[in-house]
Parts: sequence; C-alpha cells; structure tokens
Amino acid sequence: MTEVGIDAIEIWTGKLKLDLPNTFAPAKDEDPEKYTKGLGLESSSFPDVHEDIVTMGANAAKRLMERRGLELDDIGRIDVATESSFDNSKPVSTYIAGCLEQRFEGNLHHANKGERKFACVAGTQSIDDAYNWIKAGRHRGRSALVVATDTALYARGDPGEATQGAGAVAMLISEDPDVAALSTEQGYGSADETDFLKPNQQFPSVDGKRSMQVYLARMREALEDFESVAGDTHPDDFAYIPFHTPFPGMVRRAGLLGYRHMIRDTEIEDELAGEIGRQPREEEFDSWEAYEGAIREYMDDLKETDAYRDWYGRVIDPTLTIARNVGNWYTGSVHVARASALKNAAETGRKLSGEKLLVGSYGSGAQAEIHAETVQDGWKDEISDLNVDEQLARRHDIEYEEYEEIHDVHNHDKGIDIDSFTQPSGEFVFDGWGDMNQRKYSYVE
Ligand code: CAA
Repeated sequence: MTEVGIDAIEIWTGKLKLDLPNTFAPAKDEDPEKYTKGLGLESSSFPDVHEDIVTMGANAAKRLMERRGLELDDIGRIDVATESSFDNSKPVSTYIAGCLEQRFEGNLHHANKGERKFACVAGTQSIDDAYNWIKAGRHRGRSALVVATDTALYARGDPGEATQGAGAVAMLISEDPDVAALSTEQGYGSADETDFLKPNQQFPSVDGKRSMQVYLARMREALEDFESVAGDTHPDDFAYIPFHTPFPGMVRRAGLLGYRHMIRDTEIEDELAGEIGRQPREEEFDSWEAYEGAIREYMDDLKETDAYRDWYGRVIDPTLTIARNVGNWYTGSVHVARASALKNAAETGRKLSGEKLLVGSYGSGAQAEIHAETVQDGWKDEISDLNVDEQLARRHDIEYEEYEEIHDVHNHDKGIDIDSFTQPSGEFVFDGWGDMNQRKYSYVE
C-alpha cells in the first residue's frame, strides 16, 4: 500500500518578538513567572508592518519549494488553513499562489485552491483533504501544498493577549513521504461549543477557562474514538505526542490526562499502585462529582511520580521548545509541535525511522482529531534543513509601546501607517491596496 503523508516542512515566523517576562509582564504589572512557569511562554512572534498571513505563508512555501527543487507544475493543490482571513470570498491560497507565480517559472492554473476553516484544527483537516485526494488517485503524480498561517491576536486587555503569536507552517503532502506517513485510523471528538469564536469580528470572543475544559473533553473523546479503530494506546507506543499548543501550560494538562488514560489497566498502573493507589473507577462512586474529585486527586499524585515525569520529559516536553518562543500560531501550532519534536530528535541523535507519533489537533468551536504517524527514513535530512533557530534569533525585540503600535497596525479597524521595524530582504511583502480593496504583494530582493 502506498504511504501518504508529510514530505517536507517549512516554518516562517513573524519577524518581531515580544519578550513576555521582561517586557509584557512589567507593563501589565504582573509576575513574570505567570508567563514562564504558569503559561510556559518566554516570548511571542508578531508580524512586522510589511507582513501578514499571505507573506508569511508564501515565504514559507517559497523556501520549501526552493529547498526541495520543486516547480509549480509539481503542485496540484494549495490549501490554506487560517482563522485570520481578511476576505470572505477570495481564498488566501490564491494570494499565495500569486506570490509564488512571481518567483517561479510557469503558473498554478492547474492547481485546485481553497481555504479551510475550523479554528486551529483546520491545518490538520487540510492535510486530511490532501491525503484523501492522493489516496483517491486524483493527484496525477503531483503533491499538495498545505499552508497553515495565522496572526493570532486578541483584543488588548483580553486574558488571551498573553498567548498571542504569528507565523506560518508550509507542508508538502505526497506519496512516499520523507518525513511522516499518516495512519488511516483517526479519532474525532466534535461538538457544538461556544468557547472561542469570531462572529464576523477580527479579535475572538473567548471564555478562556471554559476553552481549556472543552479542549480536554474533546481531546479525550478523540482519543477514545481513535482507540475504537486503532486499538488501545500505551504510553510507550509513541516517540512523541505533539498536541495543539495554544500555550505550553495547556499541553501540560493534556499530557497528564492522556497518560492517565493510557496507563489504565496496564502494567504501569499496577507498578504505580503501591505509590499512589489504583485509578478510581466510576462504578465505585455514588455520584459523578465524587468520582471526578477522586480522579483529580489521583492526577495530582500521578503528576509527581518519577514514571510520569520521565515520560513527560521524553515524549511531551520536546514538542514545546518552539512554542515557548513564538506563542500560539492557531492552525500552525500542532505542526510547530511536530517540527519541534523531530528537531529535538535530530539534535539529540535519536534514531526515529519507523517510530510512531500520536498527533492531537484541536480547534475551538470545537473539534479534536487524533491520528498516528510513522516517521520515515528521510526525516532527519528534512528537519536538519529548518532554519527556525536563526529566524527566531534574528527577530526584532520590541518595546511595550512598539507592541501597542504593531497591534494597531494589524487591527483592521485602525490600520495605522508606520515604517517597518526590520528591513525586508529576500521575501514577499505586503505592498498596499488595489482599486478593488484587494491586498497587493511584491517580492523584495
Ligand atoms: N507563578 C507561577 N504560576 C503562575 C503565576 C505565578 N506568579 N501566576 C499565575 N500562574 C499560573 C496560574 O496558576 C495558571 O496555571 P494553572 O492553570 O496551572 O493553574 C497559569 O499561570 C495562568 O494563570 P491564570 O489562569 O491566572 O491566567 P489568565 O486567567 O490570565 O488566563 C487563559 C489564562 C485563560 C489561558 C488565557 O490566556 C486565555 O484566555 N487564553 C486564550 C484561550 C486559550 O488559549 N485557550 C486554550 C484552549 S482553546 C484552544 O486551544 C484554541 C486556541 O488555540 C485558542
């Protein structure tokens, strides 16, 4: 059977950096450790004045294509996943295709283009669409370009402001992929929820605490649904588990919940029984509340055990390295987590070919999706070509007043006009407005 999956990955970060403990926390009169220890964040990425979801996506896609020696004719579809779109009709993928056509020979007239929306899970859904298109044999030997690109801004003063970020992940989905082959098995947890939404408004309406509960509830449902087709999961089955990462503190909770679920009725639960007892079973309790209270106590004990800490340090923590320094990239976030894990494996000399990842995606509103991936032989060469560390180091570190300005630049209701903080070089830039109110783009050598 032909494997289909992720053949190449490229990351493009917004070119500005907001230091959360040292710049943001003092301006908000808050303890820096709320960011570093509580949320698990060091800094956020922001788009410079000349950047937006199109430039970041197009710059990631261009670098990916150049690195892999691809031509426009090799691409049969372009799907953009975003929750920051600025056009209700013309998809962002057409703007990105227009940019690529400025730099590569030929055109993308043969390519099917679209835009996917379901909050942060849309990036994974776009991969899914590409997988199905290839598996159906409709791709004529071509690959799909999936671009997850977002400017994740919250209204100023919203608690979500601490978790902002901006960047794009471009992924090539092909037959016989170099990085990871996707499992046929998938699990879903999907329900009509109003935890985070943008009803025709730029900045989200968020019920932050509830959104965290909904994330965990849908993720758990998705894991159970995945197990119903793929069989029970065990913590040792997976080299890494990249989760959607709105902020690393959220993944800390998801990791603990997942571990508790996976060790139930296993030798790990037996081994831990002497230390912290066995997991409470629902049938042992008179009420749901009593059962939930007992589960919470068990989890509090579980997270202090060496077994859990060791597993978390190996399987979850390495997925968070990039997120800690860029914040939430919405649709790109789980794909940043995967890249972060693979990068960790490459840097520590870990042999990963044939090993499995479990990937947990989530979008508010709300839907979680879980599938497995098998790491392919070409993973290391591909990941070693990422230059994300250089990009992060090159970001311009903004003062708090500059943060307020750049937030206003990207606020559709304000749109103030200031000079860029960085000098564009070798990249697509936003170049003003056309006579039909379209955004225009050019390439700066
Ligand atoms: N030292 C150490 N830790 C501290 C601290 C200090 N001085 N001060 C606070 N903390 C800890 C808190 O205890 C808390 O940790 P726990 O949750 O483990 O208890 C953490 O830091 C955050 O502090 P608060 O809960 O007080 O923070 P907050 O109320 O200001 O906001 C938030 C947190 C609700 C997540 C907010 O940032 C938010 O609304 N974010 C946007 C919504 C979001 O990201 N939701 C996630 C799930 S939805 C999703 O995933 C989709 C998506 O991408 C948006």
